[in-house]
Amino acid sequence: MTQPLPPSSNPTELANGPASLDAFWMPFTANRQFKAYPRMLVAAKDMHYISDDGRQILDGTAGLWCVNAGHCRPKIIEAIQTQATTLDYAPTFQMGHPAPFQLAERLAQLAPEGLNRVFFANSGSEAVDTALKVAIAYHRVRGEGTRQRLIGRERGYHGVGFGGISVGGIGGNRKLFGSLLNGVDHLPHTHNLTHNAFSHQQPDWGAHLADELERIVTLHDSSNIAAVIVEPVAGSTGVLVPPKGYLEKLRQVCTRHGILLIFDEVITGFGRLGTCFGADYFGVVPDIITVAKGITNGTIPMGAVLVRQEIHDAFMHGPDQAIEFPHGYTYSGHPLACAAAIATLDTYAEDGLFENAASLAPYWQEAIHSLRGAPHVIDIRNIGIVAGIELEPMPNRPTRRAYECLVRCFEQGLLIRTTGDIIALSPPLMLQNSHVDYVVETLDRVLQTLP
Ligand SMILES: Cc1ncc(COP(=O)(O)O)c(C=O)c1O
Repeated sequence: MTQPLPPSSNPTELANGPASLDAFWMPFTANRQFKAYPRMLVAAKDMHYISDDGRQILDGTAGLWCVNAGHCRPKIIEAIQTQATTLDYAPTFQMGHPAPFQLAERLAQLAPEGLNRVFFANSGSEAVDTALKVAIAYHRVRGEGTRQRLIGRERGYHGVGFGGISVGGIGGNRKLFGSLLNGVDHLPHTHNLTHNAFSHQQPDWGAHLADELERIVTLHDSSNIAAVIVEPVAGSTGVLVPPKGYLEKLRQVCTRHGILLIFDEVITGFGRLGTCFGADYFGVVPDIITVAKGITNGTIPMGAVLVRQEIHDAFMHGPDQAIEFPHGYTYSGHPLACAAAIATLDTYAEDGLFENAASLAPYWQEAIHSLRGAPHVIDIRNIGIVAGIELEPMPNRPTRRAYECLVRCFEQGLLIRTTGDIIALSPPLMLQNSHVDYVVETLDRVLQTLP
């Protein structure tokens, strides 16, 4: 399946390097550190990037958890090019064009039964803020306007909008930004090394942590609570796999109290676990799903919110000429993003990529867990084609060891992602056994050399 790489590069030709790195204020980056020691990617194909010095770098992170089908896939590129020359832009406010209707139908067919209405955004953050607004407004249009509270989870990541950081549970992403949304509670996270270190897939311990939801409901009364939002697998804070029975409990409590359950599937959507959605993998169906990233294979920004038809239908009242849900983005359902997404869904299906992920998951699991015993490794966790490898932090220098690991892996031809002192791995789903071996061998070598 993997195509040969482009002929080895002339770095200057490929890089067309910038004269200065000063003007670009880089997102989620230690800017001064990066600009002192830049790491530049200049081309990509299938499983690999090419760095500006002409080296092949195996993409161990599918970009940022988004290039699930591998890089520069011909069908997706062609669809974008064709769309750009046919209809570059068209509004979706009081106007339409075919692509978002076609894409919404496709997504509704893929989604768990009943989630067949789709609202488009341009990122995961926008999808999350849209979902939270849908939840609050849904209760209000049904005459339950007191249901306004939102419940997230510690160590949850839901993007960077004010809604997303309010329900999100990462202190560092919240502390600079004032008082955030009112009326938000957080469930405890499920990460516990004492009970769950080196678990394979779902840990046995921790379902009881979902009982905290009952406590919050008792405190505030269900009549004041709109929604609970969780990632089925928390990705950005280091691959936290839900304990067995945990998501099922959340579902039961939400159903019992009329609270909407939102799964943020920006990472788990589109095959990461070997099924289309995390909801399919865990057999737990939420009321709303947010997606982004893999929806277009990372090529054109897009997010989407999939909702149960009853939620959508609750808005379809009042005078015909009234706008039922006063929300949307200039680029909701953008023609290029829709074309990219439709071609991406075709590529996933034609290449059997979700199936490939499912069939490689056991090999991935065994290979990743073979790093147990390597220097500094205090936990390894995995599910689908995802893994988290937690390192013992250096005394008084948190994150330093993992950063060093990232730099050395990059030098040795492997792109990893780190969060705190945790390595997160999520390669494109077109990977083969040989790629898995390369990831593990490179990591093993680098771990042996780390301070
Ligand atoms: C679960 C989850 N939700 C939301 C987001 C935000 O997506 P974006 O960066 O496209 O806004 C991310 C990004 O990593 C994510 O992992």
